[in-house]
Amino acid sequence: MTDLYAVMGNPINHSKSPIIHSQFATQAKQDLVYSAMLVPTEGFEPAVKDFFKGSGRGLNITVPFKENAFQLADKLTPRAQTAQAVNTLAIQEDGSILGDNTDGAGLVRDLVMNQNVNLAGKTILVIGAGGAVRGILQPFLEEVPEKIVIVNRTVEKAQLLADNFKELGNIEAKTFEELDEPFDVIINGTSASLSGELPPISESVIGEHTSVYDMMYGKELTPFLKWAEQAGAAKVMDGLGMLVEQAAVSFEIWRGVKPDSQQVLAQLRAQLADK
Ligand SMILES: NC(=O)c1ccc[n+]([C@@H]2O[C@H](COP(=O)([O-])OP(=O)(O)OC[C@H]3O[C@@H](n4cnc5c(N)ncnc54)[C@H](OP(=O)(O)O)[C@@H]3O)[C@@H](O)[C@H]2O)c1
Repeated sequence: MTDLYAVMGNPINHSKSPIIHSQFATQAKQDLVYSAMLVPTEGFEPAVKDFFKGSGRGLNITVPFKENAFQLADKLTPRAQTAQAVNTLAIQEDGSILGDNTDGAGLVRDLVMNQNVNLAGKTILVIGAGGAVRGILQPFLEEVPEKIVIVNRTVEKAQLLADNFKELGNIEAKTFEELDEPFDVIINGTSASLSGELPPISESVIGEHTSVYDMMYGKELTPFLKWAEQAGAAKVMDGLGMLVEQAAVSFEIWRGVKPDSQQVLAQLRAQLADK
């Protein structure tokens, strides 16, 4: 029986995961089928249980089910435990379900390996305090930056995250108004670009050496990256690499093989440009 994998979410037809994982499988000569599954909002748990009863070996989980997957997993990796959200499920030999979160590791890989942006000793501004930001904080702090500052529209959420992660490194919350100095690296982890909006942020955070990353991606630069470029950022990067790298980490967890993410990233970038 061919091993089955899938991404579950709602909506799901935008997902690039089937393309990415099918390409990884071809490259790594792995016999598997990966599909996209639209799951009703109230039907997540039975859908997962049914999937793993058959030939299902692993799942990616996307909006809005990452917290449901965290609750459902029998065992959690430390990074999934800290993130309190799961984007990867894997069936174990004893039939139990392992939950992991590869978003943060994917972003660190994209920054460090693909973009040559190191985080060690750097000052980092993280904008947003939703699920994606929660998932990146532990992997970021493991890189030992000089400090991480979190800002968010809802200030209390940024403060809560800073409090939750302060044992792991130098991290604090600020308001947008308190930001008055340039950072080495800025990460936009808000969904503001989705609606063409910008977080209410001053250009003072951008210096001539600042590298700016938006977790969103598209055919063109996101509104945030356009803003950063105009403000004089040294480098701007979108989240397509994060998407491919978090998938590569999931693939390794399931199959024990490291795929060539560069090749897949280049293909996806070319497809986006053609649209
Ligand atoms: N590239 C990848 O692989 C990847 C992976 C994961 C996520 N993402 C992207 O990351 C983004 C965040 O995802 P998420 O799961 O963390 O979402 P989420 O949990 O819904 O959080 C959304 C965050 O954006 C903020 N926000 C929304 N609209 C805003 C606006 N107009 N101005 C300022 N702040 C705004 C929210 O602030 P409040 O708290 O004040 O509401 C919150 O901090 C999404 O765009 C998602 O597509 C990309």
